[in-house]
Amino acid sequence: MTSEPTSKQHALDALTAIYDVRATGQYGLTLINQLAHAVQSGYHARTQGHPTSIVVAALLHDIGHMVHDLGDHPAALGIDDQHENIGADWLKRYFGPDVTEPIRLHVAAKRYLCTVETDYFEKLSDDSIESLSLQGGRMTENEVSAFLREPYWEGSVALRRIDELAKDPNGPMPQFGEFALEILQTAIA
Ligand SMILES: [Fe+2]
Repeated sequence: MTSEPTSKQHALDALTAIYDVRATGQYGLTLINQLAHAVQSGYHARTQGHPTSIVVAALLHDIGHMVHDLGDHPAALGIDDQHENIGADWLKRYFGPDVTEPIRLHVAAKRYLCTVETDYFEKLSDDSIESLSLQGGRMTENEVSAFLREPYWEGSVALRRIDELAKDPNGPMPQFGEFALEILQTAIA
């Protein structure tokens, strides 16, 4: 007799299917695809010693690009796809706020870092610079204060730094399945 998959297993199966089918699109202007960007992000979060929730958040942070129908590069059309909100809302069915909120805040974290660190903007990749103005550009003082009151702001800043690191065509490329244990550990039952 076969048993019904648990919701944790269902989360893993659904995410694996999305990354198998939808993650082959190019990541913005960079030379790697969404799948490579995702697994590189997960890899860096893991090797930097972040908690499992941040490893999973890093792996899945751009899933919002894969669950909408605006194409692979909407920023080139002047469209902010709001992928951080789409992704965080979509993932709520499987994960708690320790995963979804750093994802929701990772674009705000880019705006924050561009505001408070003078050299951060210069280090951004071309696709990140292209999308920044669509996403609101640098923060005002009030926006910085509001951001620092968000309970998951620190995780989102860590995630955002990893995001920028994880665009290396010659970087590490683990398999998506190598994160199965972290996904199963973090998913809500
Ligand atoms: Fe990203």
